[in-house]
Amino acid sequence: MRDNYGRDITYLRLSVTELCNLRCRYCMPEDGICKKKHEEMLTQEEMISAVKAAASLGVKKLRVTGGEPLVKRGIVEMCREMATVEGIREVCLTTNGTLLPQMAKDLHEAGVKRLNISLDTLDEEKYRYITRIGELKDALAGIRAGLEAGFEKIKLNAVLIGGFNDGEIPALANLTREYPVDMRFIEMMPMYDSGDFGPEAFISGDTVLEKLPELKALPPDGSVARLYQLPGALGNIGLINPVSAHFCRECNRLRLTADGKIKPCLHAPAEYSIKGLSEEQMREQFLAAICGKPKWHGELNYESRSQAMRNMNQIGG
Ligand code: GTP
Ligand code: 5AD
Ligand code: SF4
Repeated sequence: MRDNYGRDITYLRLSVTELCNLRCRYCMPEDGICKKKHEEMLTQEEMISAVKAAASLGVKKLRVTGGEPLVKRGIVEMCREMATVEGIREVCLTTNGTLLPQMAKDLHEAGVKRLNISLDTLDEEKYRYITRIGELKDALAGIRAGLEAGFEKIKLNAVLIGGFNDGEIPALANLTREYPVDMRFIEMMPMYDSGDFGPEAFISGDTVLEKLPELKALPPDGSVARLYQLPGALGNIGLINPVSAHFCRECNRLRLTADGKIKPCLHAPAEYSIKGLSEEQMREQFLAAICGKPKWHGELNYESRSQAMRNMNQIGG
């Protein structure tokens, strides 16, 4: 279905939980999150009904996110059911990868087509720092498990952080020479509380082009990333520049949070609640959210932070 600005809304990002087994500094505060009451969160049945309601309005692609979606109980079965919803052509999942060694095969068999996996650094100490509690070897084992399970595509996501991983841009990019993966560099978005980083930590996607002059531009593929390739590489390099060059004009997505709020825009405050509603009532709320989708989210930089009033783990990216 088209919104008021002619954008065809075909993509739903569903956050199945706010919880995570890591604590990335740009995503959530150190003490994790104030756990919401169980009754406030969508049930699995409500999530499936919501996907059906969204599909009836033209959503074709579903991306399961979190928090960390793989800590959600019953996630494999949920994915299996969502993949069979009429109209849904593709179920994809964004994960930190650490639980993939035990889950990748089952997810693939359940019908998940593609995986996006976070990987900000290849240095063990730095990985421990940025995730506060994680181990690099677990994420790497997850990526390996994803490759072995035979997903159509694996994309790695690195959030660009000046003074932290800007020196690793060539090493991260080189993964595309060794493995059939895409490597994407994402500009850090200033959320409600990503208080660990000041303005000096922001670096734009152009830094990647400066550090990798051998990159060749590729035609766009309809995703939010600008695509490039290293000579002879097996996968692409993507630049996701939501801060220096927002992509609101082509935005085809809606978000649904684990506590049942449809967000027409990642950085805007508007939310439409579906908690406790029937599938038909949910459809009405999706319709209202599509009609209420703003043209753009307004200024986004260190001074004019995201108006979402949520941290990233409570939205799902
Ligand atoms: P593909 O289906 O592979 O294109 O995935 P994706 O890039 O949509 O999903 P992913 O979960 O890997 O997100 C990558 C980064 O893009 C994250 O940092 C998201 O927060 C960001 N992102 C995704 N969609 C939007 C959007 O509509 N607006 C903004 N500002 N950022 C977005
Ligand atoms: N800015 C940019 N990307 C972010 N992510 C989480 N928080 C931020 C932020 N503040 C990314 C994660 C993950 C994806 C879902 O969103 O690294 O890859
Ligand atoms: Fe967890 Fe992903 Fe947020 Fe890191 S970025 S804390 S892995 S949800």
